[in-house]
Amino acid sequence: MCIVIATSRMSSKIEIVSTVEELRRKISSWRKKGFSVGLVPTMGALHDGHFSLVKKSINTTDKTITTLFVNPKQFGANEDLTIYPRDEVGDVAALDAKGVHLVFAPSLKEMYSADFVTEISVPGIGDTMEGVFRPGFFTGVATVVAKLLIQTLPDRAFFGEKDLQQLYVIKRMVTDLNIPVEIVGCPTIRESDGLALSSRNIYLSASERTNAASLYKVLNEISHGILNGDHINESVAEAKSKLLNSGFFKVDYLTVCGTKNFMELNFLKEPAYVLGAAWIGETRLIDNIKIC
Ligand code: PAF
Repeated sequence: MCIVIATSRMSSKIEIVSTVEELRRKISSWRKKGFSVGLVPTMGALHDGHFSLVKKSINTTDKTITTLFVNPKQFGANEDLTIYPRDEVGDVAALDAKGVHLVFAPSLKEMYSADFVTEISVPGIGDTMEGVFRPGFFTGVATVVAKLLIQTLPDRAFFGEKDLQQLYVIKRMVTDLNIPVEIVGCPTIRESDGLALSSRNIYLSASERTNAASLYKVLNEISHGILNGDHINESVAEAKSKLLNSGFFKVDYLTVCGTKNFMELNFLKEPAYVLGAAWIGETRLIDNIKIC
């Protein structure tokens, strides 16, 4: 069933579909009129980071689709699937106000039939960092993103650079599988103290929220140190102890990677990123910056 919501802004009209059939019917009607299509895949609980992707899509394509689907395949057994923030009504109202044309909010059954078995894995890029600490995560992401891309066949799909390794995994998959879509990476949106926006930030207590900005701070310190000639291992070790002294209780990784193939670097010999993941209270935060 296709639902059309007319809001108090009379010019605004967003449609919501929940089946692949309705989605394809709508897209096909757009294609017949020659419209280009942008896709913004999300798991909902939307914030300004997501809205920046939406804005980029609206500015560069004729019709924008946002997907709302909390993908169980990318959550590990001990992760936060059951408590992951959900607010479909609020998300749809916000997307409507931003000018999104269509929301695809499929049920679990629509995405994964009872006999669903196919998985897409992206070894190499997907095996390091997040791949080590969240086994199966990138297979879950690659599988659902491949499905969403094949279901919608957009001209462009938009992903945040905050999840940088995810972006690299998706680009690799799209190239390897010849999926005809341009993958567009969009800059991380931050709070004024530097904390990267994330749906999981709502888990932070007031004091954790204050301390959480240290992650961005130490990434910058690593970057400046390395550019000033410090050894990568030493800069990383110093940053790790700073994080542990500023409210974080565990650092999963702080890693410097080349921008080209995303391989870990011990010496700065090419353009690079520094990426980190660390735990504060019950919350795991990730972030990255480009070393420049
Ligand atoms: O980045 C996310 O929100 C998710 O990993 C994505 C790309 C929507 C796939 O579920």
